Amino acid sequence: MTERSCLAIILAAGEGTRMRSQTPKVLHEIARRPMIGHVLKAAEAADVARRAVVVGHGAETVAKAVTAFDPAAAVFEQTERLGTAHAVRAASPAVTDDLDDVVILYGDVPLVTSDTVARLRAGLAAGADLVVLGFEAQDPSGYGRLVMEDRALVAIREEREASDAERAITLCNSGMLAVRAGRLLPLLEAIGNDNAKGEYYLTDAIAIARQEGLVVSVEITAEAELMGVNDRAQLAAAEAAFQASARQRLLASGVTLQVPDTVIISADTVIEPDAVIEPHVVFGPGVKVGTGAAIHAFSHLEGAVVEAGASIGPYARLRPGSVVREKGKIGNFVETKNTEVGVGAKINHLSYVGDASVGAGANIGAGTITCNYDGVSKFRTVIGEGAFIGSNSALVAPVTIGDTAYVGTGSVITDDVPAASLAIARGRQVVKPDRSPIAARGEKPKPA
Ligand code: UD1
Ligand code: CA
Repeated sequence: MTERSCLAIILAAGEGTRMRSQTPKVLHEIARRPMIGHVLKAAEAADVARRAVVVGHGAETVAKAVTAFDPAAAVFEQTERLGTAHAVRAASPAVTDDLDDVVILYGDVPLVTSDTVARLRAGLAAGADLVVLGFEAQDPSGYGRLVMEDRALVAIREEREASDAERAITLCNSGMLAVRAGRLLPLLEAIGNDNAKGEYYLTDAIAIARQEGLVVSVEITAEAELMGVNDRAQLAAAEAAFQASARQRLLASGVTLQVPDTVIISADTVIEPDAVIEPHVVFGPGVKVGTGAAIHAFSHLEGAVVEAGASIGPYARLRPGSVVREKGKIGNFVETKNTEVGVGAKINHLSYVGDASVGAGANIGAGTITCNYDGVSKFRTVIGEGAFIGSNSALVAPVTIGDTAYVGTGSVITDDVPAASLAIARGRQVVKPDRSPIAARGEKPKPA
């Protein structure tokens, strides 16, 4: 990759009133990651070592979220909304002498890829002073138009200032660009606000650069990648586009998705080749699935690791901190949380296992509950290797069941069970001959 040092300036000051939300626009999520997080990741993946975010509306909330997601990112505030060039200028303290490249990105254009960012940078490496990212618009209205002469970009004209001829142009400005770092601040200085909106337009940098004899070039990308999010419908459209491409990526990498459109993926989901994902599976954040694992229909996973060859569901819920080791089995209507399930261990039916470790090869019977919470604190349950927990048992934590120990069905276990022991903790059965109240009424079973 390139040796050039790069800063990304990401504009995220927008109000987003059309979202009708208490949450600042760039913090709305796509695939369970805030939009601004997608943009930060794309920059990082294009070897952009330094990242600066310009915040405005909801500054404090956005700044906090940015720092939590990317501690290395710097945050600057644009206190007045005076245009895109003015917003970039807010980040000028980050534009230091040692930088080679600066790329300008937008926090509400979340699907931009690292490839595209890398292409903009490659334009600079190839000798351009300024590289503009353009696209062929289905409907160009509202966008700045790229005015080309002899295949060179001479200016970007905002729609409000465009002539009729210029409005007919369909090659549009994405707003994103890359600029040789040393050129940025002088260009920003030269931009005025003598235009229809009275704003400092970053797009004016192009005509100024041309006048100064700088080299300006254009990179083109697909319009779909430049989808901007201003309302909930556009958020849903961006989500759908992200999901569609994430599914295609998984399929291409060797993962089976039986009905791809029904599987919901998070931005950080990792699934190894030869895993099989049945319909209607939801992957929340922080899930890793190993090779050959099967995730059966209608399962919901979040913050969970499923190792090679393990089997989950149908109808299983793995909550954060769940780790299912190789060939482990989690069956229907089983919930796990903060629990390690050892190699080949089984929890096949109707159980809640939380704050526990289950040893390799152990078998947890149907309806087993770890009683991990006393209303105030949480406690751990430790189940040894090869142990057997009979159906409908309650394991009252803190409690330890030793290796190869056996718990009788229906037990309420409150004390530790040593290795290799049998524990039965339930009322003894009483049988009273001829005392069935049905029999006492003299009723006979009726044929159906
Ligand atoms: C801008 C471009 C236009 C391009 C279009 C692509 C300019 C002058 N025009 O137009 O050529 O086709 O984007 O969508 O750049 N922002 C701030 N602070 C400000 C003003 C804007 O942070 O003071 C942010 C906005 O939150 C938004 C982005 O910059 O994320 C673009 O601003 P917006 O006002 O939407 O520009 P457009 O008129 O759409
Ligand atoms: Ca816009």
